[in-house]
Amino acid sequence: MLHEGGKAGGSRVSRPIIAEPIERPAAYPHLALPTVRIPRTACIGCGYWGRKVARNLAELNALHAAADISPGALAEVVKMHDVPGHDLDTILADPSCEAVAIASPAPMHGEHVRRALMAGKHVFVEKPLALQLFDAHSLVKLARERGRILMVGHLLRYHPVVMALVDLARKGRLGAVKHVYSRRFSLGKIRMEEDVMWSLAPHDISIVLALIGETPSYVSAETTSILTPGIADIANIHLGFPSGISARVSVSWLNPTKEQRTVVIGSKAHAVFDDIQPWEKKLQIYDHRVDVSTGQPTIDRADPVSPVVEQAEPLKEELSHFLDCVATGRQPVTDGHEALSVLSVLEGAATSARSKNS
Ligand SMILES: NC(=O)c1ccc[n+]([C@@H]2O[C@H](COP(=O)([O-])OP(=O)(O)OC[C@H]3O[C@@H](n4cnc5c(N)ncnc54)[C@H](O)[C@@H]3O)[C@@H](O)[C@H]2O)c1
Repeated sequence: MLHEGGKAGGSRVSRPIIAEPIERPAAYPHLALPTVRIPRTACIGCGYWGRKVARNLAELNALHAAADISPGALAEVVKMHDVPGHDLDTILADPSCEAVAIASPAPMHGEHVRRALMAGKHVFVEKPLALQLFDAHSLVKLARERGRILMVGHLLRYHPVVMALVDLARKGRLGAVKHVYSRRFSLGKIRMEEDVMWSLAPHDISIVLALIGETPSYVSAETTSILTPGIADIANIHLGFPSGISARVSVSWLNPTKEQRTVVIGSKAHAVFDDIQPWEKKLQIYDHRVDVSTGQPTIDRADPVSPVVEQAEPLKEELSHFLDCVATGRQPVTDGHEALSVLSVLEGAATSARSKNS
């Protein structure tokens, strides 16, 4: 159970920049492999993100139909991909539709996932799985009872560069992981239904948990509401883990510039994932050496090394993984249980922030 508490001049040595080729991490061996068959999948919600989901499903030959309560949004996807547009009830009643990809607004996720599972569909749902942890628990239970795949769109876990980073960390390339911080700042997309923490932080929390591989023993958070009372625009979450590793997640949709960066401080090396950089520079490993053993801290700085990572669109990798799981019965990397771990952190953070703001 998460709770708040617990913890509240050198030389420069240039080393050659060596490209380290990275193979597709063994952790997800089936990712993006051709599926046995392609499950017919309907896209529910055709707004800003749903349009991208629909495009990727169409490119994977899986888009079967679309639904949206906005006639304009629906018409665009129907025209673009030449698929039928229906209401949700019609799609759920269609036995030839095996799966749905839900990109409706976050407050509707719980209801849409529940209805889809009850109708016997496999479900991919955008983050967050639900806005309440107890609701998410009941959805995970329902998916298990119905024998259906439930996958949550923690997109960055399917970003080839993040996969490479997680793989490097797990294989010990960075030494023992000591601290991770992850920042996601932008101007927008500002939402009125959920706050910035529930909107943006699931991505970072999912990465942090994958990198550290432990369940946090405490979480605390501070939030700031500027635009709308009660809806946080800025949030800082602090995590502590049983082994002593710490992490920080900072998110804001009210920032003049865009920043999407995860930094891992390891005992042997530091890693920076910066999604704003061109592909070949998104991941940089620094073999800095810091020595405090003599009582006189010395820093031996190293030039960064950029591992070579095969380029691919994260959303396509993610949806390809979903289709593969539906076709083969494999459990997704970001299944319902992974989503519960992320939501536990969010709920702990929300409780902590509320207690400080009241
Ligand atoms: N993974 C990511 O990086 C990422 C990025 C952006 C958004 N998202 C997620 O995608 C989801 C949608 O976000 P968005 O920015 O596209 O929002 P949006 O408001 O642009 O789109 C939501 C769409 O859902 C439709 N809708 C509402 N109720 C519906 C219903 N009952 N049935 C069918 N359609 C319905 C709306 O008409 C609208 O077209 C959110 O859950 C958000 O968290 C994920």
